[in-house]
Amino acid sequence: QRKYRADYQPPAYLIDDVALDFDIRDTGTRVRGQYQVRRNPDAAGAAALQLDGRDMQLHSVAIDGRALGADEYELGEHALVIAAPPSQFSLTIENEIDPEHNLALEGLYRSGDILCTQCEATGFSRITYFPDRPDVMSRYTTRIEADADQYPVLLANGNCVESGDAGAGRHYAVFEDPFAKPCYLFALVAGDLGMIRDSYTTASGREVDLRLYTEHGNEDQCDHAMASLKQAMAWDEDTYGLEYDLDSYVTVAVGSFNMGAMENKGLNVFNTACIFARADTATDGDFALVRDVVAHEYFHNYTGNRVTCRDWFQLSLKEGLTVYREHQFAIDQGSPGVTRIGQVRTIREVQFPEDGGPRAHPVRPESYVEMNNFYTITVYEKGAEVIRMIAQMAGRDAFLRAVRHYLDKHDGQAVTIEDFVVAMEESTGLDLDQFRRWYAQAGTPRLTLTTEFDQNQLRVRLTQSTPATPDQSEKQPFDIPVALAMFDAQGLPVGEPQVLRLNQAEQQWQFDGFDAQPTISALRGFTAPVKLDYPQSDAELARLMAFDSDPVSRWDAAQALYLNTLVADARARGADQPPAAAPQALFDAIESLLATPPDDRALLAEMLTLPSETRIGEQFDATDVFAVNGARRALKQEIARRFTGLFETLRDAHAASGPYVFDVAESGRRRVFALALDYLAAIDAPGIRDHALAVYNDADNMTDRMAALGALRDLTGDARTRAMTDFAERWADYPLVMDKWLRLQASTRRDDAIAQVRALLEDARFDFTNPNRVRALLGGFARGNGEAFHHADGQGYQLLADEILRLDRLNPQLAAALAGLLAPWRRYASPQGTAMREQLTRLAASDLSANTGEIVAAGLA
Ligand code: ARG
Ligand code: ZN
Repeated sequence: QRKYRADYQPPAYLIDDVALDFDIRDTGTRVRGQYQVRRNPDAAGAAALQLDGRDMQLHSVAIDGRALGADEYELGEHALVIAAPPSQFSLTIENEIDPEHNLALEGLYRSGDILCTQCEATGFSRITYFPDRPDVMSRYTTRIEADADQYPVLLANGNCVESGDAGAGRHYAVFEDPFAKPCYLFALVAGDLGMIRDSYTTASGREVDLRLYTEHGNEDQCDHAMASLKQAMAWDEDTYGLEYDLDSYVTVAVGSFNMGAMENKGLNVFNTACIFARADTATDGDFALVRDVVAHEYFHNYTGNRVTCRDWFQLSLKEGLTVYREHQFAIDQGSPGVTRIGQVRTIREVQFPEDGGPRAHPVRPESYVEMNNFYTITVYEKGAEVIRMIAQMAGRDAFLRAVRHYLDKHDGQAVTIEDFVVAMEESTGLDLDQFRRWYAQAGTPRLTLTTEFDQNQLRVRLTQSTPATPDQSEKQPFDIPVALAMFDAQGLPVGEPQVLRLNQAEQQWQFDGFDAQPTISALRGFTAPVKLDYPQSDAELARLMAFDSDPVSRWDAAQALYLNTLVADARARGADQPPAAAPQALFDAIESLLATPPDDRALLAEMLTLPSETRIGEQFDATDVFAVNGARRALKQEIARRFTGLFETLRDAHAASGPYVFDVAESGRRRVFALALDYLAAIDAPGIRDHALAVYNDADNMTDRMAALGALRDLTGDARTRAMTDFAERWADYPLVMDKWLRLQASTRRDDAIAQVRALLEDARFDFTNPNRVRALLGGFARGNGEAFHHADGQGYQLLADEILRLDRLNPQLAAALAGLLAPWRRYASPQGTAMREQLTRLAASDLSANTGEIVAAGLA
């Protein structure tokens, strides 16, 4: 049952008002829905009313108060269809659901002691029979009744308009949401919850009650999330002039959640991993994640909720735009260069592999079997890069105005990506005709840049081509902004920086008036999500690394310099030739970097971090994992050996000197500290074990503790054992912290790594029904333990496939995500590639969910 974007039909019926009544009992939850339904004047054709619904028990259906006989509707496994209802009527549906046994974590389910919902994309049809599509928008009234002791807190979208005693130890509450919304934004929570509270006064003076709920005992891990929310609210007012539109903004953090968080109108539900942050339990990375996800969900209130998607093919309409807004917010929190570097790294290391693999799809997909499989890095992050290109072409103010125009024009509507692009054109005057291909064509464009210099004149030639992807063999040229700057030998800029607009297969530009051939810094700031081939000499790269005024480009030059060496060495190793030595230029560049480091310490850390195995592997048609890992480890050790003294100095100069503070300067300092430890540990430098253990013991914060543990991870011996044991005991009652421990264990290099992971799967600290635990252990293994996961005997792949099969019966969405790790088998040289494919074939022969089935089929196609 593949769905196609081209098949879109408007809904035959609209539902203006929805009244839902939840009767929560231990034995099951009864749902009574009353809908005001009318024929959609814009819909042509058949007049049957389709109500989606699955995995529930139907009790009754009534039209205008008259119960329908079983012959008056058709009940299938996925829908209830009423063939020819009146053109306007009131529909009443009664059904029963079983949240206690809902391990798919979609619809209404239990997380610990909390009942909560997750409806996007199509979870609402696990709650009741309803047109589960975002273009049906309704005003909701929700009544919840439950045991007063077990569920003292009852929540739904909107304002609480009534509450009280319901007799027999039960109580109730009624909520009204004044904004019409699609059912995927519906939310309900019931539980015995702790809460922190704050308030925010909007620019126009509305007092907003901010509440954040979590299981009792976790309240002191929520302050950073609350502060972040207020920052996000202020930022959206200052930047876009967008103010919050309800009297309360409620967030609930639950331990079992498939994704990061969900932007339900006025009632966000979050994974605790994206809320909890306390100095001693969360790293700087966690603090930043919490800040950014909290902001992301808040920004959805306009880009997603006030203006929503017509259908799920348009997902990037809200996600691409909201991720872009989140990115700009993060950049405005300080350290713009390093923040941008992180975004670029995600595109290159996660999105490019997706775009070059069996699951490649356009930012606006053409078809899907299971929508949950399309909450992808392409829809989210590449979608955000596409918006970023528009913003760049328009200029900041014009872009902000255009977003306002889009939101005003479509307020309260469910629209398409095309509607968004048209609004951008109307407001900015840009011609985005060809630019639209970014939404329609999958695959990463490959650019080549060549230069010719003579007679004081520089000619720059750019070409583009995009490799075929599974559903598209032919690609048209993209409209690509390529930023360029030039420097002379002293590092001074020559002329103004340029943005070349490459919109044909091949183009040429001419620049005059040079005394000598300049050094070019191309694709500065990563102006487009493309791969650029521009072979620059090690000397040129070293120059850019030293003086390029754009931090992203400085970092990029360093990456290119490392990559040249790493790729050559990996190639040699793969061909069983002697390892290729790194050029002196690289060591000279590192030496001068260490001698005159950038003020931004995080940038220093980024520039000293070697490209990841994935990034190196991306340079090959088929990766030889061991050659790549070997090359990376060798270069790291070589650098550590040559600069041992400097790394020790760096470490000591960047050690903690006061209590933990999460800010740009301090987290930058901690990054350099961790980096120095990591290099020293790579060569097991004298004293490093004791030093790391001391850091572990003395640290007042999780960032330094994890730095110490990371350094000790692959060093067998007493220090490691002591730190790991202490960690496990100290944090036994903190599941999210134990996830860090699971991840460390799963990613440790050791001969019996697979046996270790199998043992942890049976460990009481592991829980197969909790997605965070599964991601920590199995994700930590498959992504973090290259040697074991990719062992030539194929046992790593087999372990993962075993667990996918087990998990698929409980949580198909999560199982499908793990199956995605086996799908790109063609990217790996054999025996790895064939061994991965064998496991995919084995999965394909099993009885799989639609989710996992779609991923496996794509991998084998
Ligand atoms: N809209 C949520 C967010 O990006 C994610 C929901 C994902 N849901 C899913 N079923 N995959 O903030
Ligand atoms: Zn989102």
